Amino acid sequence: MANELQPARGTHDLIGEDQRRHQHVIDTARRVSATYGFDEWATPLFEDTRVFARTLGETSDVVMKEMYSFQDRGGDSITLRPEFTAGVCRALVSNGLTQSLPQKVFLAGPMFRYDRPQKGRYRQFHQIDIEVLGSAEPLADAEVIACGWEIITALGIAPHVVLELNTLGDQESRQAYRNALVGYFTEHQGALSQDSLARLDRNPMRILDSKDPGDRKLVADAPTITPYLTEAAAGFYDGVRRYLEQFGVPFRENPRIVRGLDYYGHTAFEFITTKLGAQDAVGGGGRYDGLVAEMGGPQVPAVGWALGVDRLALLLDEPPPAPAGVAVVPIGETEAKALEIVQTLRRAGIRAEIAYRGNLRRRMERANRIGARAAVIIGEDDIARGVAQVKDLRTGEQEAVALGDLATRLR
Ligand code: HAM
Repeated sequence: MANELQPARGTHDLIGEDQRRHQHVIDTARRVSATYGFDEWATPLFEDTRVFARTLGETSDVVMKEMYSFQDRGGDSITLRPEFTAGVCRALVSNGLTQSLPQKVFLAGPMFRYDRPQKGRYRQFHQIDIEVLGSAEPLADAEVIACGWEIITALGIAPHVVLELNTLGDQESRQAYRNALVGYFTEHQGALSQDSLARLDRNPMRILDSKDPGDRKLVADAPTITPYLTEAAAGFYDGVRRYLEQFGVPFRENPRIVRGLDYYGHTAFEFITTKLGAQDAVGGGGRYDGLVAEMGGPQVPAVGWALGVDRLALLLDEPPPAPAGVAVVPIGETEAKALEIVQTLRRAGIRAEIAYRGNLRRRMERANRIGARAAVIIGEDDIARGVAQVKDLRTGEQEAVALGDLATRLR
């Protein structure tokens, strides 16, 4: 068909191996985060646009260029979530949980950003995410990062991933640093790209993130935040590094990390890989002590991260194997008994299928095609003797097994 429908640009279907890779990442994150005491939440896929518009930063790319915002039929402005964090803060306030702190939250699900699609970058992508709400201690930052590192390790991809760490200081440090950056970049404004010139007033720290080659040369010699940190901010950062060492999490300091969203202060970090070309960030996060208040709640210190499931899935060496079940194959007038057996096996937790039709040969072909590890062949004589023939489809060996022992044997 000439005008066959394709998935919308920047979206993809997850089928077979792709879905198994994806699911393995999410299952692993869910399991590991639970061992750290995180509870799973599910927040809506869309929110009132105001949840994201101001809070992520009016000058951030996500808000200026990438949000899927529309008016719904009732005239409300709605946005498909581009990230979890703002929605989680909104949910904390909406559900009256600001009196039950700390909350340790795990989430997984699809996100939407109108970005230019390429390998590892999609318009609908998936994140796993954890947030600790209500803890101002550097131990919380380190524990959140340690949990992320543990997930990356459990996925077997730690050799391809580096944790890069930075501090953005407190407000006083940032104000002083901001002034220093404005001074430095103003001196060199002739060499700045158009985009960065526009950022000079509104958000000079974002220039540090520029991909423009000319900007990057300037950025290399730009001041770092370190000399502008207040004693309190430097002390907090020391704490984070000390706890990370105690957790045994390896990290590299990178004073250029500013993150693409505006709500961060103090800790900022990214998990970087060299294996995905331009899309080198598999995850990122940091501390955001002001966001809950921006949602109309009290001051609630918080820290968290999100990891890109699609990118982690691409990094997995081996896809998890396809599940191999058993195929029940009736011969002659034994279908009723075969159905009883297939249900017994399923209730015992065994993946079991029965071909809907065909002679023995056709049904055995089907058993092979679905990758069954064993066939349970049921003939009329077998039923009379209270057995079934179990054929190991890998070795070809076959033996009679008493019907009552089938589930135990096949497990
Ligand atoms: P983020 O850095 O915008 O942070 O996104 C986190 C991760 O999501 C990225 O490192 C990347 O792996 C993945 N990602 C982002 N955009 C795309 C895309 N278009 N296609 C595929 N993957 C993508 C946040 O979202 C913050 N909410 C993290 C956070 C949680 N901070 C505190 N708590």
